[in-house]
Amino acid sequence: MANINWYQQNGKYMNGYSTMGNDEIFLCSLADVQLRFLCPEDLDEVRTLCQDWFPIEYPFYWYEEITSSNSRFYSLAAVYKHQIIGLIVAEIKRHSCLNEEDSGILAKCFRDCDIAYILSLGVIKEFRRNGIATLLLDSLLKNLLTPERRKVKAVFLHVLTTNSAAIRFYEKRKFRLHTFLPYYYSIKGKCKDGFMYVLYINDGHPPWSLYDYIKFMCGRVIKGVGFFPWIIFNVNKALGWMWRGHGIRNAEIH
Ligand SMILES: CC(C)(COP(=O)(O)OP(=O)(O)OC[C@H]1O[C@@H](n2cnc3c(N)ncnc32)[C@H](O)[C@@H]1OP(=O)(O)O)[C@@H](O)C(=O)NCCC(=O)NCCS
Repeated sequence: MANINWYQQNGKYMNGYSTMGNDEIFLCSLADVQLRFLCPEDLDEVRTLCQDWFPIEYPFYWYEEITSSNSRFYSLAAVYKHQIIGLIVAEIKRHSCLNEEDSGILAKCFRDCDIAYILSLGVIKEFRRNGIATLLLDSLLKNLLTPERRKVKAVFLHVLTTNSAAIRFYEKRKFRLHTFLPYYYSIKGKCKDGFMYVLYINDGHPPWSLYDYIKFMCGRVIKGVGFFPWIIFNVNKALGWMWRGHGIRNAEIH
């Protein structure tokens, strides 16, 4: 995929990392963290990590798919000293192919557009709070903001309502709560609630509510100049429509 920073540099390299006495590792610099796509040889390592991070059991073929060399997924790993310390897996879907519970993310005018879905994002416990997830998400977003990806109008994900670390992470990155999904997950035979979070990109936006229309009108009034041409244009359009309708009725009468 285009436009990936294979090596991140932040210019603050301080030779390795230090532990903070509680098994957490403080990376003095992200300069040694390498980003690369997953490959088939990563399968076992990725599977072990996901089993550790996520309460959901993924089928084996899913691991095969995300690590395949011609994968349809955007599967990026953060590697430190030859060890995968974090990964992100995302895919691009057609807006029209979304499940019913996800279909209200974008306004109807984006019917022919695409949407990115983050399936997984995780970082090894000891390496958390070092900016690794930020690095991975930034790489994905950078890719989605390239001109070739203009059709991708939003990025979304599902998260357990109890996963406060992930919720704080995504909220810090300007993802907004979109939907509460009662009993969305089935974990070890128990139903758990979920949230759907969304980030709009490339001028994407949700369906407009009455409030949005009022806000838009007020904005136009405050800006002044643009409002009256807009009114005239729309009144004109409405008159034209009525006139055409009238014409058809007349034609039918004759
Ligand atoms: C969520 C997760 C991916 C975050 O990874 P990370 O590498 O620690 O995240 P970052 O270091 O980039 O965090 C960036 C910011 O997010 C917020 N954040 C991340 N973890 C947080 C936590 N546990 N508590 C509060 N805020 C947190 C902070 O604002 C943080 O900035 P700061 O460290 O400067 O305060 C990680 O906790 C994880 O792997 N969790 C288990 C797997 C998981 O639940 N994934 C999400 C599935 S939807």
